Amino acid sequence: MSKTFDIGIETLAGKPQAAPQASSEEAGARDVSTIPPNGKSFYIETFGCQMNAHDSEKVAGVLLERGYRAVDSLMHADLVLYNTCSIREKAAQKVFSRLGEMRYAAPRKVIGVLGCLAQQEGEEIFERAPWVSLVCGSASYRRLPELMAQVEEGGRRVSGLDLDTEETFETEFTRRDNPIRAYITIIEGCDYACSYCVVPHTRGPERSRASDAVLGEARRLADHGYSEIQLLGQTVNSYRDPSPRGLDFVGLLREVAAVEGIRRVRFTTSHPNDFHRAIVEAIDEIPALCDHVHLPVQSGSTPILRAMRRTYTRDEYLEKISWIHAARRAFSITSDVIVGFPGETEQDFEETLTLLDAVGYDGVFSFKYSPRPNTAATAMPDAVLEEEKSRRLAILMERQRQIQIARNEKLVGATFEVLVDGRHESRDQWSGRTSGNRLVNFTSPRQSLLGEYVQVRITRASANSIAGEQVI
Ligand code: 5AD
Ligand code: SF4
Repeated sequence: MSKTFDIGIETLAGKPQAAPQASSEEAGARDVSTIPPNGKSFYIETFGCQMNAHDSEKVAGVLLERGYRAVDSLMHADLVLYNTCSIREKAAQKVFSRLGEMRYAAPRKVIGVLGCLAQQEGEEIFERAPWVSLVCGSASYRRLPELMAQVEEGGRRVSGLDLDTEETFETEFTRRDNPIRAYITIIEGCDYACSYCVVPHTRGPERSRASDAVLGEARRLADHGYSEIQLLGQTVNSYRDPSPRGLDFVGLLREVAAVEGIRRVRFTTSHPNDFHRAIVEAIDEIPALCDHVHLPVQSGSTPILRAMRRTYTRDEYLEKISWIHAARRAFSITSDVIVGFPGETEQDFEETLTLLDAVGYDGVFSFKYSPRPNTAATAMPDAVLEEEKSRRLAILMERQRQIQIARNEKLVGATFEVLVDGRHESRDQWSGRTSGNRLVNFTSPRQSLLGEYVQVRITRASANSIAGEQVI
């Protein structure tokens, strides 16, 4: 039904490479597949992060409920929606090039732009691509049924761009694309103001979702057979229950992990400033909480962190890492890093490299700094040349690759529980993820393992995956 481009942290989420089938599970009380279609078909293409991918699932749920039909090719769709990303310029350019391609298809199709680029560019999109009839930011998805009604009545420039909504996005229906791992948004928006980042402008201020709504969704997912849940938020660990129960993030983690049928709970993305020792303690104590933390550092240099307005120093970050290193369980730690931020000297960059060694990351998403509209860093002096950014990125990636090889080689001989989410016929292999979110390829004499938890003994390691055989 839809196509997703991974740009950044989202690849960590580990989509099944061979999903058995797209389920039309819904989080509400009714099954959307029983609603008769009214004949109109839709196709969603998703760019960007896991939050966007999950938003697309909700949008698909809303459309199915309105009687639309999902099709797996843009060619056959009456309504084409682009759920967009604007985190870096390249992501935004890709969307505009896609919109350009739709120019001559528009008389026969309704074209809509959703997500961060929609919010950032607003009605400008109608000027740049007049064949677009709907522009809607993520904070306005609750209004989608109403906006779709306007489009169906022939509305030419329908928009939903309010950011000041107090409501998080509660849809009655969610069409789940991943039959093995289910996502739950627990917090939307961001109240930090990192100087390079568009997210506070595109997703608005931070709003947490009531714990009862989160737990209700977790229970319904467990009833539908999901055993792995990923809690989502731009700063997921800033969660604060707005209901009278007033749970903090760790309180919510504990309750989600206690839902019957849930065997794995993940969460992404954590902000170091809100990363407290209690999170490590909870993971240490509760097996259902996965032993993986994605804790973006962005830079290893304190002066650059200050210029980025990250609210912590190198040493403060490393102190949090020391809690994880001291835990009883062996956590995977992953991160995001930006190279070539304005004013980043060779010395600053060197500090980022030494931080990679000090932490021993299991994965790093690294990016060249990209100036974004409405962000403080665009006005900062001492821009780093593009060639220099590329040079630093290549050095960083190679250093990190070596770290991953060394770390993964140490796992040879160990046995892990793997949740199987893919099958590669040509290689006669299965694939899945450990609790630490490591990608494992393995052989097994068994048939139909998808969705099963199996024990795998590791026999080989490379930078991005480990391989082995099922222990029977
Ligand atoms: N340029 C480059 N990378 C960025 N990120 C966010 N904004 C920018 C930018 N302007 C990166 C950060 C963030 C990840 C999702 O994208 O590393 O954690
Ligand atoms: Fe952007 Fe910083 Fe908020 Fe993350 S914490 S979304 S990097 S502003």
